[in-house]
Amino acid sequence: MAESSSEREAEAEALAAARERSLRFLSGLELVQQGAEARVFRGRFLGRAAVVKHRFPKSYRHPVLEARLGRRRTVQEARALLRCRRAGIAAPVVFFVDCASNCLYMEEIEDSVTVRDYIQSTMETENNPQCLLALARRIGQVLARMHDEDVIHGDLTTSNMLLKRPLEQLHIVLIDFGLSFVSGLPEDKGVDLYVLEKAFLSTHPHTEAVFEACLKSYGASSRKSSPVLKKLDEVRLRGRKRSMVG
Ligand SMILES: Nc1ncnc2c1ncn2[C@@H]1O[C@H](COP(=O)(O)OP(=O)(O)OP(=O)(O)O)[C@@H](O)[C@H]1O
Ligand SMILES: [Mg+2]
Repeated sequence: MAESSSEREAEAEALAAARERSLRFLSGLELVQQGAEARVFRGRFLGRAAVVKHRFPKSYRHPVLEARLGRRRTVQEARALLRCRRAGIAAPVVFFVDCASNCLYMEEIEDSVTVRDYIQSTMETENNPQCLLALARRIGQVLARMHDEDVIHGDLTTSNMLLKRPLEQLHIVLIDFGLSFVSGLPEDKGVDLYVLEKAFLSTHPHTEAVFEACLKSYGASSRKSSPVLKKLDEVRLRGRKRSMVG
């Protein structure tokens, strides 16, 4: 049955009110990161340490399209977090998904640092990539498990991995799944690793051997790694050809 215009108006009003309520709630939290597409807040939610990721519209040129895109990313992120956790892969617990304002409420991984900060400070203090090999192997294992569940992260970088204290336990927690999707194709997994390789080597110079250790461990840990690593080689070659032409 077609909705009457008064019903549509009432629905839009209810949505706007819900959005306002959640933005009011966010204004009481601590802003931890202001990104291009999302703000990340820290606070308490139902008595638990929480992080809230709010995807806000970037411009007001296409508010409806942007709200839809924000919703899609929020939902994709929540789904991937649930899928990982169901498979026993460390990722934050999802507390609440607010589709009115595109907010994802999740567990705060307390006492953690990003893998990026950890690698940077280790390289500064030790100046020896050897110190990072165990961490690299652990990352390879975690990514192998994730790919064996057919989760493609979509934005693998060392900022999107957290390391919990005590750091020497190498307990890695994956975050930032807004570009993730489900696929069993070796090509998608190979591209996922290629994205990480590019990000890793540009963020952390002189760590080729470290990334190599990560891939080796991925290869040994994943049940389906050989077609994936073959695809990674192909994707690298394509990337190189493109940079030669362009
Ligand atoms: N669950 C969490 N627990 C602790 N810290 C977190 C958590 N989620 C995010 N953070 C912190 O906030 C930072 C930004 O989070 P995230 O990577 O999810 O957002 P983003 O990069 O801004 O988002 P996007 O790239 O999807 O727009 C992380 O690098 C991390 O330091
Ligand atoms: Mg991120």
